[in-house]
Amino acid sequence: MGELFLMDHPLIKHKITFIRDKNTGAKEFRELVKEVSMLMGYEVTRNLELEEIEIETPVSKTKAKVIAGKKLGIVPILRAGLGMVEGMLTLLPAAKVGHVGLYRDPETLEAVEYYCKLPSDVRERTFIITDPMLATGVSANSAIDAVKKRGAIDIKLMCLIAAPEGIKVIQEAHPDVDIYLGELDEKLNEHAYIVPGLGDAGDRLFGTK
Ligand code: URA
Repeated sequence: MGELFLMDHPLIKHKITFIRDKNTGAKEFRELVKEVSMLMGYEVTRNLELEEIEIETPVSKTKAKVIAGKKLGIVPILRAGLGMVEGMLTLLPAAKVGHVGLYRDPETLEAVEYYCKLPSDVRERTFIITDPMLATGVSANSAIDAVKKRGAIDIKLMCLIAAPEGIKVIQEAHPDVDIYLGELDEKLNEHAYIVPGLGDAGDRLFGTK
């Protein structure tokens, strides 16, 4: 079973509260999503391997630690996942960015992939899939399938808010994928919105309705 990491940092909790507030406009919403993504990126990268290199400070030679060349790929699920990319890139400027686009078939209600473009060296990269909302789990499940189908073996899922229903779907379908959450909410409503959630993340990020 993949691990579930629920953030407990006060700054993340504080910022998500204002992301949820319906009186927060698109500009502030985007800024807060960026900030929370950056803070969560700190936790998602906690286990990156280090290696020692030799450097010289103004005082002496020393051995010091650097990230051991692990290649990272950030993969937003279109479109709301895009809002989390900038914050991650602030922290990880050398990461590559892929994209997965999905739509829901109105008849089968299944997610259908319409776009997938990933950075090269898929097998050697750690992929961090981003989507602000893990609701039914249908999109995240299909996005993970899409990335795995292209050869990825090291995948993490990062979401701002999740419902228990979505977590269960991912843990059952992809027990190798660790999930990073800002907040865990109560449930889904009859329209598959997370309660209390934040409404439609894409609409709030991009000011559409
Ligand atoms: N997607 C959203 O944007 N919001 C939800 O509450 C659920 C899915």
